[in-house]
Amino acid sequence: MIRLLQPEPTGAALARRLKALFAERYSAIPTIYRAPGRVNLIGEHTDYNDGFVMPAALNLYTYVAVSPRADRKLRVYSENLGEMCDLELDSIHPGRSGHWSDYVRGVAGVLESTGYRLRGADLAIISDVPLGAGLSSSAALEVSTAFALLSNSQISVDLTTVAKMCQKAEHLYAEMRCGIMDQFISCHGRAGHALMLDCRSLDFQLLPVPRDVRLMVCNTMVRHEHASSGYNTRRHECEVGFHTLAGVLPGIRALRDVTLDDLENHSNHLSDVIYKRVRHVVTENDRVKKAATALEMGDMAEFGRLMADSHRSLRDDYDVSTLELDLMVELSNGQEGVYGARMTGGGFGGCTINLVDAAHSQEVQQRLEQDYEARTGLKPTILICETSDGAGAVSEK
Ligand code: GLA
Repeated sequence: MIRLLQPEPTGAALARRLKALFAERYSAIPTIYRAPGRVNLIGEHTDYNDGFVMPAALNLYTYVAVSPRADRKLRVYSENLGEMCDLELDSIHPGRSGHWSDYVRGVAGVLESTGYRLRGADLAIISDVPLGAGLSSSAALEVSTAFALLSNSQISVDLTTVAKMCQKAEHLYAEMRCGIMDQFISCHGRAGHALMLDCRSLDFQLLPVPRDVRLMVCNTMVRHEHASSGYNTRRHECEVGFHTLAGVLPGIRALRDVTLDDLENHSNHLSDVIYKRVRHVVTENDRVKKAATALEMGDMAEFGRLMADSHRSLRDDYDVSTLELDLMVELSNGQEGVYGARMTGGGFGGCTINLVDAAHSQEVQQRLEQDYEARTGLKPTILICETSDGAGAVSEK
């Protein structure tokens, strides 16, 4: 199950810092695991409708250092927050407290309730995945914690099962009814590749990202507080759409099985809002399949057009974009070297993703920083990211 990963320069510095602070705090030499954040190239809000997504793991990671304890306690230190938290493995129950430790508690709780008996552990966590930016900081924390707790207990579990248990932890302990995308890519990502996932069968295909294409992640620095309740509302709207359509289309098992013709023929059964939500899901699934073909053919112009359509659909039909996300996309679109731009992740703020020709990426980055700040007064963080492998143990070399 466990890959041995060579940390790259910044990651190596974080892992070293984590090891040093662990030794100081717990007087022990830990083993270190890490899991990446992700960016989604296309296929938004389709995963929980059994549809298709195309994320890539990023070279931004959460690192968890671990060493065993003789009792059934978890002592957890977060370096980013400068906080310590104690948990008892024998008294973990589902439910959200709103504290960062919900994710650690959730992963431990789900592993135990699945039947894995965990050893107690001292843990320390450090991360460079920006929090709340829509780059899956929670999935990175869940997956790195799962790796640490399982290895510490000498339990080996396949990657897809780890992803599913982490998703369950998020449902039960963060009360965010996420799909499988974020945890899956954090486990299965591959450097140099995007991953096209069929969220029904969980079959996936690794698609090479052309060498001269850069993934530019633009953080608008705005995140709405209702992001997770808004997400759960969208999921509920999809369920309403599905149940209504299932009344007239008995063969369907999820919105993934609805065609655009089906939707148009039966739109009279749906309210305007539910109709638009379903239309987004149906058209987005189609775009992911077309985008996979475009990527395989190296047709970045077509990929970019599909990204633009995806953004419009998320803005107008799914209603999860924001003025800042729209602005960042608009500012990116006109620039030389930008193949495509769209919001990425759940929405309600966070980041956009641009696919950019390598030769123009620095120019685009600088211009976007200036233009976005001039228009909003906010200083954005614009990162040119590398794709990464999924979670694993960090080697000491
Ligand atoms: C969040 C969720 C994912 C997915 C995206 C939207 O990142 O965790 O499961 O639904 O939003 O595509």
